[in-house]
This record gives sequence, structure tokens and C-alpha cells, in this order.
Amino acid sequence: MKIAMLGPVGIGKGTQSQQVTQRLNYTRLSTGDLVRDHIEADTELGRELEGYYERGEPVPDDVIMDLVRPHLNPAGAWILDGFPRTMAQVHALEEELEKRHIGLDKVIVLEGPSDEELIERITSGRRQSLATGRVYHTEYDPPPNPGEGWDPGPFVQRDDDKEEALRRELEAYHEEAEKIKEYYDEQGILAVVNADQDVPDVTEDIIAALGYPEERTPRA
Ligand code: AP5
Repeated sequence: MKIAMLGPVGIGKGTQSQQVTQRLNYTRLSTGDLVRDHIEADTELGRELEGYYERGEPVPDDVIMDLVRPHLNPAGAWILDGFPRTMAQVHALEEELEKRHIGLDKVIVLEGPSDEELIERITSGRRQSLATGRVYHTEYDPPPNPGEGWDPGPFVQRDDDKEEALRRELEAYHEEAEKIKEYYDEQGILAVVNADQDVPDVTEDIIAALGYPEERTPRA
């Protein structure tokens, strides 16, 4: 299955796409991670992208397409995290997939919490494991206790976890979201999932929306 997972900043795209890939043995491709990888590696492109990233502004569509294109593997099951997020990206993705004789099977859109709740979620304690890249929250989705035998620390806070950047990201998201939803709804592949629930409940709803009966869900 080829899936895209969309939603505003902080809704849980990273968290849920990581859970789903682990449960279903999918491959995950996050455009945010591709951008961060270039910034961290201090490549020429990374230095160009840093300003957009830290301001919470969308990276230009053609740059995002150049980053994504090599990863659109016709074989296997994958999930796109945070892409496509503009109508230009929707059409460019479709063109690329057509060349490979494939298409998206499902577009999951996470919705529920208000913009203020999303900003609170992130600024109150989002932490990312340096060991695994897994996203946690100090209160809502805490990492395992090192005493339990598995320690994914150390943890870092992202450079774009600042209120001003988050507000810009939310604004950019709302400008495009309804058009994108309408487009995929007309294609009959849209599924809106309530993200205003605990993390495991959201995961179950996504797995169900993908059409996997609970008892047959393969586990990692
Ligand atoms: P990207 O990294 O994709 O960031 P984003 O879309 O802003 O989303 P986030 O990763 O910040 O949030 P999330 O929805 O993944 O939530 P998370 O799981 O972390 O993009 C970053 C930047 O790169 C963009 O600003 C842009 O510059 C550029 N970019 C990337 N893709 C692009 C594209 N396609 N086009 C143009 N530019 C692009 O969860 C958030 C927190 O909440 C965590 O602490 C988590 O533990 C917690 N949490 C998760 N679920 C729940 C729950 N159910 N209840 C309570 N807490 C929860």
C-alpha cells in the first residue's frame, strides 16, 4: 500500500507514521526528516533550507520534489509523512507516481485538536530520541524508563519548536489543507482520523482506516 499521512504541525504525523511503519513493516519517508538531514549534514542545500525550516515556512515545492523523487519506490509498502502539503506537490507527486505505474492507495488526514492545543503539545515537551529518531512527549507520550532495560536517550528539542514558527506552519497548512482533502476525497482515498485521543487509540483508528482487521495486524 502507498499512503500519505497529512495534518497540521504537532498533530502526530511523525508519532503515528512511526507506529504504523513498525506495526505493518512499511517504509516511512518524512519530508521534514529529509530537510533536517540536509541541515544537520551542513550541505549547500541544507544551508539554503535552514532559514525556511527555522521560520516555519514551507520549503519551495520544486526543492521538496527533488528530495522526494529518488525515494518513490514502486515496490513495497510505504508511508509519506507530511507530504504532499500543497496542491502543486499533489500534482507533482501524481505525475511521478504515474511514471512508475503506481498511485496512492490512501491519504490519512489527522485532525482534532485546535491550533492552540497543538502549539501547547509541542512547546510543553516534545522530545526526539537521538538514538532512534522516535518522537516522544514528556507528559503525553513519555519515553520508556531506562530502568526497564531500554533507553532511547539522549533526547533533543527541535530547532523549529518555537511558537512563532509553529504559528507560521499552521497558517501555511490551513491555506492548502481543504483543497487537498477535497481532491483526495473526490478520488475516494481520503480517510480523516481523530487525533484528539491517546496515541495508541489514534494508531488503532489509522490501522482500521487502512483496512487491516485488528486480529490480523502483523506486529514487528
Ligand atoms: P515536519 O518535520 O514535517 O514538521 P511538521 O509538519 O511541522 O510536523 P511535526 O513533525 O512538527 O509534527 P507532527 O505532526 O509530526 O507531530 P509529532 O508526532 O512530532 O516539517 C518541518 C519543516 O520542514 C516545515 O516547516 C517546512 O519548512 C519543511 N517541510 C517539510 N515537509 C515539507 C513539504 N512537504 N513541503 C514544504 N516544506 C516542507 O507530535 C508532536 C508532539 O505531540 C510530540 O511531542 C508527540 O509526542 C505528541 N503527541 C503526538 N500524538 C499525540 C496525542 N495523540 N496526544 C498527545 N500528544 C501527542
